[in-house]
Amino acid sequence: MLVASNRGPVSYELRPDGGEGTLHARRGGGGLVSGLSAIGPDAGAVWVCAALGDADREAVRRFEGGRRLPAEDTGGQQVRMLDIAPDVFSDAYNGIANSVLWFVHHMLYQTPLEPAFDAEFRRRWASYEAYNRAFAEALAEEAAEGAAVVVQDYHLTLVPGMLRDFRPDVRIGHFSHTPWAPVDYFRMLPDDIAEQVLRGMLGADRLGFLTRRWADAFTSCCEALTGGLAGTRIGVHGLGADAEFLRERAHRADVKERMAALREEIGMAPDGGARRTIVRVDRTELSKNIVRGLLAYRQLLDDRPEWRERVVHVAFAYPSRQDLAVYREYTAEVRRLAEEINARYGTPGWTPVVLHVEDDFARSLAAYRIADVALVNPIRDGMNLVAKEVPVVSDAGCALVLSREAGAYAELGDDAIVVNPYDVVGTADALHEALTMAGPERAERSKRLAAAATALPPAQWFLDQLNEL
Ligand code: F6P
Repeated sequence: MLVASNRGPVSYELRPDGGEGTLHARRGGGGLVSGLSAIGPDAGAVWVCAALGDADREAVRRFEGGRRLPAEDTGGQQVRMLDIAPDVFSDAYNGIANSVLWFVHHMLYQTPLEPAFDAEFRRRWASYEAYNRAFAEALAEEAAEGAAVVVQDYHLTLVPGMLRDFRPDVRIGHFSHTPWAPVDYFRMLPDDIAEQVLRGMLGADRLGFLTRRWADAFTSCCEALTGGLAGTRIGVHGLGADAEFLRERAHRADVKERMAALREEIGMAPDGGARRTIVRVDRTELSKNIVRGLLAYRQLLDDRPEWRERVVHVAFAYPSRQDLAVYREYTAEVRRLAEEINARYGTPGWTPVVLHVEDDFARSLAAYRIADVALVNPIRDGMNLVAKEVPVVSDAGCALVLSREAGAYAELGDDAIVVNPYDVVGTADALHEALTMAGPERAERSKRLAAAATALPPAQWFLDQLNEL
């Protein structure tokens, strides 16, 4: 069995030691790694991924050309890391996957100016093809006769078709962790490119999506552009949260320390009682809608002064894709707005927005545990695991304010307070409703949210796909 994804289960950091530096392995971020990590070393799978930066390339150099990373770094998982030429990698990952395909599926373009599919785009597309070919070649080399290969995400849409040509004997699955664009939006891509993406994916025996909505959108694209699914099967697998792992991890000492530190930062309400917390945890990702979340919080403080001094917005926005200027600008805007809110409303004993930007999983879990309200308001999101994780970990039960454009809405919509992510005033009202929800109702709903969120644990999610394949 083989798994292929751009980001692997680990990424390295090179720390100076006076010599050639020491490599430290860190767990990769994002929903894809969270889901696939449950495969575990016993399944005997080989996970093929790309070197993401200089430290990863150094690891490839030190460890047999990346053919297998050391088991102590990967938790025993067999990992093959591909060193794709830095300029090819960057054009494929930054220039196409994250700037074009991600934008199409999350509908992020500001269309009067973007996109413009010019000669530079075509040049990058050739790199995207080369990068996909590098994966297909490595998989063809690794796969035993009749092996099952599960390819992940928008980075690798061409791999199924390429691998099919190299190795007609293997069974190929592809899973999309993102939404799929509606057909009219998808057709922004030049016709030949749109068709190449679809035909690349249709090289798989079976395609998986997180919700019926994304699967149907893909099918509509195929009906419009390739004359149908050409025998490829489609399935829906709604990745759930890993309750066992999260609950155990959330009760370790480092999380407790961070809870104490957070409580200190949040402070006490003027009457000496605990302040309410609105928690959000995201990569600083354009689709996560962090800025409108802050605008909604500001609106809440404006419209309902009774909440001043009595609520704190705990916002963790971890850096992501900082090679792209638009992500750096978005990150700066998040900071600017948080500072503006703090300057406008803050008092000596109250910081309205507690913003942290350094990635710290233990601190995220600490925030989940103390959350009264979780704010998950993406513009569009394949699933959004934070929406599923908070109710599972929360100590006293939390109210969930959830965008109807998140894949998780399909499973959690009944017990969440649902918002249109563009509607700032509506989101402010939803925050108020969540903050004022009576304790017993909040606890009840949170329990039901946690049950729905864990209906399909990651290990089963993966096994189901494999069985169907
Ligand atoms: O899980 C969803 C996802 O978008 C993956 O496709 C992606 O690998 C991950 O989140 C994080 O993004 P990146 O790998 O660009 O940091």
